[in-house]
Amino acid sequence: MQKIQVHDKWFEPYISKEKISARVADVATQISIELDGLNPLCIGILNGSFIFAADLFRSLSIDAEISFIKLASYKGTSSTGSIVTAIGLDENLYDRHIIIIEDIIDTGKTLSAFLPEIIQRHPASIRIAAFLTKPEALQHDIHADFVAFEIPDRFVVGYGLDYDGLGRNLPELYILSEE
Ligand code: IMP
Ligand code: MG
Repeated sequence: MQKIQVHDKWFEPYISKEKISARVADVATQISIELDGLNPLCIGILNGSFIFAADLFRSLSIDAEISFIKLASYKGTSSTGSIVTAIGLDENLYDRHIIIIEDIIDTGKTLSAFLPEIIQRHPASIRIAAFLTKPEALQHDIHADFVAFEIPDRFVVGYGLDYDGLGRNLPELYILSEE
């Protein structure tokens, strides 16, 4: 087993390229069946989702559009807590079928803070496609409609996910070594 080092930490191979592409193809098939004829608008959340979004989108067999946004969070007042806004959300979402593409849903905090911004634009429907979810870590009422892999509450890198900026270009998924 080939361990790799990213910054100061060691990671071991976790999910192979082959398994990733097979599951991404499955998810694309599910989406293509469920949203056939609806011309969904996929919204990829940068930076982490760009590789998953590219592979997933390329595998869709239906008419679909894609756009990318970046989320910026800042502190609101004490009553509003932290506020998350989308940078680059220029499309008209009214009456569109939206698929939000995320690399990973960990606690669910990011998406639960950002979803209201989508909802207030009155799309026809909103779905979430996540490459990974960590069900044990979930703390918010966020449900992904399409998931490639559910993983335990452990830190992973690769396939778009980073550890402090590095590791996004690894073609397979690596998990933090426990020893
Ligand atoms: P959430 O708001 O807690 O759901 O966190 C989501 C964000 O945390 C993701 O978009 C990632 O940027 C980051 N994240 C959570 N877990 C991991 C991980 O295991 N590896 C890399 N990034 C992670
Ligand atoms: Mg992210």
